[in-house]
Amino acid sequence: MKQNAGRTLTVLVIAMIVSLSGCIPTKTVRTNADRLGLTFGVAVQAADVLDPKSMKLMISNFNEIVPENTMKWGVIRPLKDFWNWSDMDNMVAFTEKHHMRMKGHTFLWHNQNPMYVNALKNRDEAIALMTEQITTVMGRYKGRIYEYDIANEVLADDGSWRDTIWYRTIGPDYLDIAFRAARATDPDAKLLLNDYSNEVKGQPKADAFYELVRGMKERGVPIDGVGFQMHLSADYPVDEEAVRANICRFADLGLTVTFSEIDVRVKLPVTPEREAAQIGIYTKLMEIALSEPSVKSYVMWGYTDLRGWIPQFFSGYGSAHLFDRQIKPKPAYLSLKKQLEDWVK
Ligand code: G3I
Repeated sequence: MKQNAGRTLTVLVIAMIVSLSGCIPTKTVRTNADRLGLTFGVAVQAADVLDPKSMKLMISNFNEIVPENTMKWGVIRPLKDFWNWSDMDNMVAFTEKHHMRMKGHTFLWHNQNPMYVNALKNRDEAIALMTEQITTVMGRYKGRIYEYDIANEVLADDGSWRDTIWYRTIGPDYLDIAFRAARATDPDAKLLLNDYSNEVKGQPKADAFYELVRGMKERGVPIDGVGFQMHLSADYPVDEEAVRANICRFADLGLTVTFSEIDVRVKLPVTPEREAAQIGIYTKLMEIALSEPSVKSYVMWGYTDLRGWIPQFFSGYGSAHLFDRQIKPKPAYLSLKKQLEDWVK
């Protein structure tokens, strides 16, 4: 079994601290992920870290928390002079109390921006505001947030630059400037570039994403890893060979890969065949994550079918998560749990 000794050691130490502190039982999905050196994360809402039932579920299953919306520009800074810190502060405190990692998501995106961001007109103004956002948030949580999606979805579906406020006002070097500002603010934080439809080598967007990142590395831009979101459909199996080949070319650049926003939507109604296909995808992704040393994280985009973005975006699809609407474990969860147990043996 190929494993990265460094990451295994780090996460084992965390596992030992957690089990010594008596916070969670020693054999859970989370502790097995710890033993395997895998960051097993989940995107949550601000209220999740205040609700005892959700808190318990998170603590026993996951070793990393990602704010699904809480750190996005429009939420954390809805007005130029008003910072909404309390929800992020709560999340960061929650992860520290329970010895979890925290991932920041995300500074630069084309969605969920407030009006004063979308109204930016010139390069200098945009660089100043972008840099202020990054240095203010990362400065506040310096040493407390393990990694950040510095930018999200910077490419369009055909692989060209997405026409965002940052691209329009600053130009293509906005990423270089942002990553450099981030590194200067918190030199220990891991800096990631996140996107979707970028996981299959040979597809135009994935190849363009690779070339973009390769260029950043060539220019000495401080980037540590890339995120493959993996919002997948049970209708299409994972192209394992192409995904592994893609992971390898990023590893050759010295970069880690995160499966950063996993959910596997199913065409409704759920049938045994469709659910089996969903489980096949979840477990295939986990197999890849555990066997490719440069894949560090497997992050779920939410945990319950009770809420989520899928039914709104993909009409006729749902049931994408590991827990049902009553927050009961589904077969996909049980399969991942068993898979981690088998890998630990
Ligand atoms: O907070 C308001 C609430 O006050 C209001 O009553 C309610 C009415 O609709 O809306 C609430 O805001 C919603 C927010 O989620 C919090 O629940 C927004 O309308 C809704 O658009 C927003 O959706 C989020 C979406 O990003 C925004 O585009 C999803 O939760 C979130 O899962 C999704 O996450 C993205 C990743 O960041 C990037 N990759 C794709 C992924 C899925 O779209």
